[in-house]
Amino acid sequence: MINKMHKEAKIYVAGHNGMVGSAIVRELRKQGYENIITRSHSELDLTRQDSVEKFFESERPDYVFLAAAKVGGIGANSAALADFMYLNMMIEMNVIHSAFENNCRKLEFLGSSCIYPRMSPQPIKEEYLLTGSLEKTNEAYALAKISGLKYCEFLNRQYNTDYISVMPCNLYGINDNYHPEHSHVLPALIRRFHEAKINNSESVTCWGDGSPLREFLYVDDLAELCVFLMNNYSGNETVNAGSGREITIKDLTGIIANIIGYEGKILWDTSKPNGTPRKVMDVSKAESMGWRAKTSLKDGIRLAYKDFLSRYK
Ligand SMILES: NC(=O)c1ccc[n+]([C@@H]2O[C@H](COP(=O)([O-])OP(=O)(O)OC[C@H]3O[C@@H](n4cnc5c(N)ncnc54)[C@H](OP(=O)(O)O)[C@@H]3O)[C@@H](O)[C@H]2O)c1
Repeated sequence: MINKMHKEAKIYVAGHNGMVGSAIVRELRKQGYENIITRSHSELDLTRQDSVEKFFESERPDYVFLAAAKVGGIGANSAALADFMYLNMMIEMNVIHSAFENNCRKLEFLGSSCIYPRMSPQPIKEEYLLTGSLEKTNEAYALAKISGLKYCEFLNRQYNTDYISVMPCNLYGINDNYHPEHSHVLPALIRRFHEAKINNSESVTCWGDGSPLREFLYVDDLAELCVFLMNNYSGNETVNAGSGREITIKDLTGIIANIIGYEGKILWDTSKPNGTPRKVMDVSKAESMGWRAKTSLKDGIRLAYKDFLSRYK
């Protein structure tokens, strides 16, 4: 029997100021859940075991979405392997363990597609987890995420809990990170093309030849899946989250330039690496349960750009 959330249930969304956490809060409110508890990073540092234990003992949430994490692109990840491992392991172990100690009915853990082997066959199925070596640049982050999802599985196996995990592909949308050095590819391109437009730049040079295939999911579609899984899925195996649609980086840049209204040239610096030629999730498991990503890439980028403009300084 799956533990469905009743509308008065006390729901803790960890990381509610982040892109994923804020989208989960929006989705919960849309579906009529009002008893949502949150704490900002400055109010509750989730790496501090004592503080997390006290918070769970006093609040005793019925359900937990764990969307707090130390997140960053390749540069940030590879420059701070130790920090990424320590901070993420601490957040995960503290939150998952305190939820368990305080009889949380169900917890959903957010991971990432980087948990899968570097040379995974494509599209990546959930069962490929731990079948090969990880990508070195984000090995620490991936190991921390694998530990989090395995800890959920081991609690289920040892104590019969109902803790689940979801692994999204590249995300974008409202509240994304547009930091010039620490952002992911899609928000980084939005910023670069926007700046090129306002500076009347003749050209924008992108890395590689634009041929790699990637998959992007609008964050509100992920949030809908997260709430859906909380109400409809139980199991030890993780669930992939993706749009199921692939696009080359070249086509993506064309769409972004067009939406932003940048009319200069787009050049490709082929002396720079392309990265993995193809990275796409097999999302048939989520789709077989009845979920499907609704937002088209163009609509999603329009919404993300609107949000970017409202926050860009
Ligand atoms: N973004 C993507 O493309 C993507 C793709 C796949 C999976 N995911 C997964 O989705 C989850 C959320 O990612 P996101 O993109 O929403 O990241 P995000 O925007 O950086 O949000 C993470 C949130 O966690 C909070 N946090 C970090 N350390 C904390 C701590 N010690 N105590 C309390 N709060 C802390 C952050 O607060 P501060 O900012 O104040 O530190 C932030 O609000 C992660 O598990 C990530 O792996 C993201």
